[in-house]
Amino acid sequence: MRKTPTLDQHLNVSDKNITSVSREKRVFKPTAEFQRQANLGSMAAYKKLHAESVNAPETFWKRMATEHIVWRKPFKKVLQWKAPQAKWFVGGALNVSENCLDRHLGTARENKAAIIFEGEPGDVRTITYKQLHLHVCRLAHVFENLGVGKGDRVAIYLPMIPEAMIAMLACARVGAIHTVIFGGFSPEAVKDRINDCQAKLVITADGGWRRGKIIELKSAVDKALPACPSVQACLVVKRTAHEIKMTEGRDIWWHDAWKGGPNFHKAKAFDSEHPLFILYTSGSTGKPKGVLHSSAGYLLGAKLSSHYIFDLKETDRYFCSADIGWITGHSYVVYGLLSNGSTVFLYEGAPNQPEPDRFWEMIDRHSLTILYTAPTAIRAFMRWGDNYVLKHRLDSLRLLGSVGEPISAEAWQWYHKMIGKGRCPIVDTWWQTETGSIMIAPIPGVTPCKPGSATLPFFGVSIKVVDESGKEVPRGTGGKLVITKPWPSMLRTLWNDAPRFKQAYFSEFPKHPDWYFTGDGAQQDKDGYFWIVGRIDDVLNISGHRIGTAEVESALGSHPAVAEAAAVGKPDELKGQALVVFVSLKNGIQATDELKEQLRAYVGKEIGSFAKPDQIRIAAALPKTRSGKIMRRILKQIAVGGEVKGDTSTLEDFSVIAALQSED
Ligand code: PRX
Repeated sequence: MRKTPTLDQHLNVSDKNITSVSREKRVFKPTAEFQRQANLGSMAAYKKLHAESVNAPETFWKRMATEHIVWRKPFKKVLQWKAPQAKWFVGGALNVSENCLDRHLGTARENKAAIIFEGEPGDVRTITYKQLHLHVCRLAHVFENLGVGKGDRVAIYLPMIPEAMIAMLACARVGAIHTVIFGGFSPEAVKDRINDCQAKLVITADGGWRRGKIIELKSAVDKALPACPSVQACLVVKRTAHEIKMTEGRDIWWHDAWKGGPNFHKAKAFDSEHPLFILYTSGSTGKPKGVLHSSAGYLLGAKLSSHYIFDLKETDRYFCSADIGWITGHSYVVYGLLSNGSTVFLYEGAPNQPEPDRFWEMIDRHSLTILYTAPTAIRAFMRWGDNYVLKHRLDSLRLLGSVGEPISAEAWQWYHKMIGKGRCPIVDTWWQTETGSIMIAPIPGVTPCKPGSATLPFFGVSIKVVDESGKEVPRGTGGKLVITKPWPSMLRTLWNDAPRFKQAYFSEFPKHPDWYFTGDGAQQDKDGYFWIVGRIDDVLNISGHRIGTAEVESALGSHPAVAEAAAVGKPDELKGQALVVFVSLKNGIQATDELKEQLRAYVGKEIGSFAKPDQIRIAAALPKTRSGKIMRRILKQIAVGGEVKGDTSTLEDFSVIAALQSED
């Protein structure tokens, strides 16, 4: 496992960004109108609650858990913490699907839309809470008939359709652990994830719509499953209705599976700490990490943050454009929103299908009130041009959100002015797959915003910026971002890999074995606002997708022409970061454009097309230290086209650099 590089190696480049971002001196205060109707309306109230949440966490979380969660059995103890192992709400029992569905039945929400779905071809379905409950109950019976129950793993590989949400909730209902695999992953990646968690059941669709074409999900599953001995059955949703192969004895159509069984399903209660899901994410080795989240703490984090940060109201119609296959889709499409009884708008397809104004057109047509999206999407909208936005009114919107990467001051301003018409607050939310819920974000009726800063920590979040030794750095200085106290929605472990869990998150500061290291660099300004620099480990953020450089390297390493590969990121106007891979070839293999294209396609096949390198640079050799370690710092500098600076005294062969600079 690679050691996290030193701060100097990272922050010298990024600090410049921070300084330039900080030049945007304007502060955007919440409007009086927004503040008046906000769920939390004063800085004094935020400060009081935040102080209580970090100084007396047990009192705070006991109250929140009692108010926000429907318990079957009350918990006895708020927290049991022996780093890195946290147990929250010890002794309590609940059912997460009951907390998202049954609690709303018999109330005014029963006939309220839980999901408004729009497919890319334009088909619309509205599903009320009562109907969603029925679908989930029926699927829970199907699971039980298939022998899928408590602790079994279920892989979900679906487009953005209501069945994805139904499948997740049905897993929660029977105590099965879901692992949602983003539809853009290749059969190879699907196979690895299924095998890692030994899934018993796979749920997929014949296909999904994206940019007018069918994404062939079922055929990808067909390629993966022969090498997945743990899988006993595959449920298939009919979405595109094109011809697919069904394997007898294994594949079952979703619409045939229930066969008129019971409509009601009595949900069992599970322990607070019962695992809810595994979500694979990239780390700094070639193997993705199976982040494991548990039930009560995760649900509470997702529910509470949704309520305060999106300022949820009964009448909201909330649209999050993130795919269900990422953590944002879990916390802020499914669990956080449904537990609050909100109406979620779910869109299947691409933002520019049929035209680049699809989002704006849908926002007007469905009167959507909240939009939560990513800076990479905002940059694409900016590039497509203001005219696409100006054709629409967007007057139903009242709040905007951003997630996934730092938002530049320019993109923030555009979002605020063009989409929010200067009226909607923007919540820039910093968090991670591992944190389960938002950690740093403005409270929209309270926090004055500075474009580019995620602002202040949410309730229960003790977070600081420290140097290599763990000492807090002065305000205005860059450092490593650490969370110093456990929080309810934190990951509990990495699936089947407790040593890596400890190593990856709780070993950065030997003097503080109970600190969680985020992998991000950040700085706080004089007002205590957090400015996130980005990853300081070998993880890239490409169009909001998290990709480990080691994953790409290990994929390429298995190509017969490749001797060695080193992947680095370079800044990219649209994607945030672009992926550049330096490759040295095996003896006797010729570097051709065709080979470069083959290598790109190979990464697409091994991981998924979103991970295809933007550039492959073939070199006779890669720069190494005398002990044989690839000098990535130098490769990063070469990738951005700059001269090589800094200490090169450990470099083994100087001619390698000149050769790399002349190659493109
Ligand atoms: O580097 C940070 C960046 O995304 C990383 C987490 O990626 P992932 O687990 O895929 O989750 C993305 C959605 C929560 C972080 O370590 N990141 C996320 N949100 C922000 C951000 N960087 C800056 N500002 C944000 N608002």
